[in-house]
Amino acid sequence: METKQRLEQLHIAIFNERGIATLRDILHDLHEIYSNYSGIRVGDMTDSDIALPSGKAISPTGAAHCLIEMARTSKFLQGIRKAVLQLRSEFNHEPIRILYAGCGPYATLVTPLTSIFSPSEITFDILDINEISLGAVKKMYSELGLLAYVNNFIKADAATYQIPANEKPHLIISETMNAGLKTEPQVEIMLNLMPQLMEGGIFIPEKIAVDAYLLDPGKEQASFFVGGETPERLFLGNIYTIGQTNCVKHPPTIVKIPKEINGNDQLSMLTEITVFGNEQLHIYDCSLTLPQKICKIDDDLKGKDVQFSYIHGPKPHFEHHFITAGL
Ligand SMILES: C[S@@+](CC[C@H](N)C(=O)[O-])C[C@H]1O[C@@H](n2cnc3c(N)ncnc32)[C@H](O)[C@@H]1O
Repeated sequence: METKQRLEQLHIAIFNERGIATLRDILHDLHEIYSNYSGIRVGDMTDSDIALPSGKAISPTGAAHCLIEMARTSKFLQGIRKAVLQLRSEFNHEPIRILYAGCGPYATLVTPLTSIFSPSEITFDILDINEISLGAVKKMYSELGLLAYVNNFIKADAATYQIPANEKPHLIISETMNAGLKTEPQVEIMLNLMPQLMEGGIFIPEKIAVDAYLLDPGKEQASFFVGGETPERLFLGNIYTIGQTNCVKHPPTIVKIPKEINGNDQLSMLTEITVFGNEQLHIYDCSLTLPQKICKIDDDLKGKDVQFSYIHGPKPHFEHHFITAGL
């Protein structure tokens, strides 16, 4: 079968398929095609990350690897498709302009849309700070005949990029994050780009929430062997939520460790991502939602308050400290 025909089949299959085994095959087959055309292959790992004032921009092969994170790629694409359909109906079917901030070498979160929408329905501004990734998308799009979708290829830092007034996007997509919003510049990118959306536009992901919990590692592990079971966890409180309705820098948050913890002695941060509407990534669905262990709660920490502060800068992360009563 001709490559372009196969590509169309694979793209359409992602939107119709949710079974894990099939999805894995689809994404691995897509990787074969994308890597041939872009020149960047998962696993080569000879390239470098870029350190930015707002966090780490991962290397082209690191970014390529995101393609084969099944639940991540599938949920994002499903959510993006729904967002495009909603925007097309709200904006009276005018072409939807999409800014993709942090495209990696395959522009993974928009390329499959080219098999379900035409260039008169959607257009892309494709941005990355890494010129190797950007060059790889350019090469792939030019060889696959997809350049009609692209308004601009932009080499810029999405955490500071100013969108020209006549190029306001209907939709901005950026997946530049890690579990617990650490290391990568997702928060700074959202803070910078969200206010630059066209009025009525959509940002994807719609919301990222990081919550403090007490877990029992034994119960967590046991739950892997019982399909669909959520282990008992103690919810302590939300420590950070950033999204379309809450896109500001947050002050530190305080949560309380209960005196009775019933064996849930591991203080952890859990990340939940609402891609768009009911397309969500829950705990353990992918690397972005793996629990982040903070510390073990010994008897002397029970009943204490813990303060969490989000630290912006080249190594974004949460800092925590226990507050001693009376201080
Ligand atoms: C986690 S990868 C995601 C790749 C692809 N978007 C996907 O979802 O499969 C993040 C990409 O964003 C880029 N990136 C990270 N921070 C950036 C920034 N501040 N400005 C522009 N690009 C950035 C990286 O170079 C990398 O290509």
